Amino acid sequence: MDKILDVREMAPKERHPMIFNTFKGLDPGESFVLVNDHEPKPLLYQFQNEHAGEYEWWPLEQGPEKWRVEIARRKEAAPERSVTDYFQTDHRRLDAIYERFEDAAAGGQWDQALSDFREFRLGLTRHIKAEEEILFPLFEEKTGMIDAGPTFVMKMEHKEIKELLERIESNTASRNATEVTEARTLLMNILADHNMKEEHILYPESDSFISDDERAEVLKKTQLL
Ligand SMILES: [Fe+2]
Ligand SMILES: [Fe+2]
Repeated sequence: MDKILDVREMAPKERHPMIFNTFKGLDPGESFVLVNDHEPKPLLYQFQNEHAGEYEWWPLEQGPEKWRVEIARRKEAAPERSVTDYFQTDHRRLDAIYERFEDAAAGGQWDQALSDFREFRLGLTRHIKAEEEILFPLFEEKTGMIDAGPTFVMKMEHKEIKELLERIESNTASRNATEVTEARTLLMNILADHNMKEEHILYPESDSFISDDERAEVLKKTQLL
């Protein structure tokens, strides 16, 4: 279980020093979950400026009352990071949340399953948004492949994935085990193949077409979504 740092009751001026001290106290590969009462964008800017390449920033909940972000210390700190590494790491992270959801659903722990699934859905929705709004347009601009290229196929699959996310969440909320099982199977079939195509084709090709500056920009903008 991750450490939790809830700063909601702290005086505002004490929050950032406390957060950075907690971060500095992490061993490589460790993380903590920050809980806050507003969107922690200024904090993210500070991480981007002062700790480039050293951390991961994974939002788990984005309001309206509570914001939760998992902040990790990367195992190997490196300011230059490939698109492939970043998005692939996010795929693995989401797989792990999804497994928690499956275990909870299989054990009939529906409240836990619902909160795990919401985390998964938020993460995957942000991931897809980053691909569609930040990475794919750059890929299309560099390759000229728009209507018949790989991004076109990926976007069609994203649409199906998002529909299934909606279906699984509503059926988890209403505890309809049969429907959840059916939609889960469909989602896993699409997602396994989808992620593999991205990891083997789209991300590495993106890395080969874009400059180091563009790559850094993609990753910064993605974190800010
Ligand atoms: Fe995708
Ligand atoms: Fe992806």
